[in-house]
Formats: sequence, C-alpha cells, structure tokens
Amino acid sequence: MATIKTPTTKEDFKAYYALRYKVLREPWGHPKGTEKDDYEPISVHFMAVDDNGEVIGVAKLFEKVPGVGHFSHLAVDPQHQRIGIGSLLVQAVETRARELGYASLGTMSRVTATAYFEKHGYQVTEIPAPHLGTTHLVWMEKKL
Ligand SMILES: CC(C)(COP(=O)(O)OP(=O)(O)OC[C@H]1O[C@@H](n2cnc3c(N)ncnc32)[C@H](O)[C@@H]1OP(=O)(O)O)[C@@H](O)C(=O)NCCC(=O)NCCS
Repeated sequence: MATIKTPTTKEDFKAYYALRYKVLREPWGHPKGTEKDDYEPISVHFMAVDDNGEVIGVAKLFEKVPGVGHFSHLAVDPQHQRIGIGSLLVQAVETRARELGYASLGTMSRVTATAYFEKHGYQVTEIPAPHLGTTHLVWMEKKL
C-alpha cells in the first residue's frame, strides 16, 4: 500500500515533478517545464510512495484567495491507478486544507476527471475553458 509524504530532498522533488510530467504533460507532447507553475514555492506538496520508495502519486495545495484552497496537479502513475491512491491524496489534501483553516477547496479539473471529483464531493462552478491548447479545464469546489 502507499504512504503519503511531503517531498523534502532534491531526489524527492525530482521524482515528484517527473511523475507529474509523465501523467499530466508528456501524453500531450508538452515540453519539460510545463509541469511546473508559478505557485510551486508557496505550495504544500504531497506524494504517495509505495513499499519500494517509488513515487506513484502526487498532488499540491496552495491558497487561491484568503480562505480558499487550490488543489492541483493530482496525478497517479497509470500502473497504480484505480487502487485508491488518488483518493488517499484527495483525503490528505483536504485534511491539510482544514488544518490551514480554509473554508473551501477547489480544483481546475480536466473535463475527463469531473466525475472523479464529483464522487469526492466537488461541484462544477464555472464554464470549462481551454488549457495548453488540448485539454479543457473547469473549476470545481467543495465546502470543507
Ligand atoms: C484521476 C486519477 C487521479 C484518479 O486516481 P486513482 O488512484 O486512479 O483513483 P482511485 O483509485 O482513488 O479511485 C478509483 C475510482 O475512481 C474512478 N475513476 C478513476 N478515474 C476517473 C475519471 N477520470 N473519471 C471518473 N471516475 C474515475 C474509478 O472508476 C474508481 O471508481 P470505483 O471506486 O467506483 O471503482 C488518476 O486516474 C489520474 O492520475 N488520471 C490522469 C490525470 C488526471 O486526470 N488528473 C486529475 C485531474 S487534473
């Protein structure tokens, strides 16, 4: 099973961003670097690690506006999907968001993943918009 950790070392962050790139950018041919955004330094980072120490899932959290958390870059390695890793990450992010005192938590979901977030209690609150030319994203939010 997996353990949720915060990346701390250079090696942790290398594996963390590599998985993000592999799942969220490489399949669409986006260049290296696009897996990061301007919010990395102010984000809390989460990674799911298997029994061998391999990073098999990632997610991050930062404060969008006062009292509202922005949960982003949720990705699970394709070989480890559908065994609960994504749900473990969602729970870890929500627990941390509550600890930080946020009243609600939202995410820019791919339109292909809105049903997944709905299962976790998030609701679409905006119209989908194009992202990086290939994927439409839509803001979904949940009261904590
Ligand atoms: C979406 C994602 C994070 C889910 O993580 P996961 O570890 O595979 O999911 P879990 O094991 O926690 O949950 C599995 C359940 O969610 C469902 N599910 C998984 N992906 C789904 C999707 N895209 N849409 C709807 N339901 C989905 C499964 O059918 C399963 O349902 P069940 O419990 O009724 O059998 C993962 O598939 C992923 O990384 N996808 C590619 C990147 C992505 O879409 N990221 C999120 C949005 S930006």
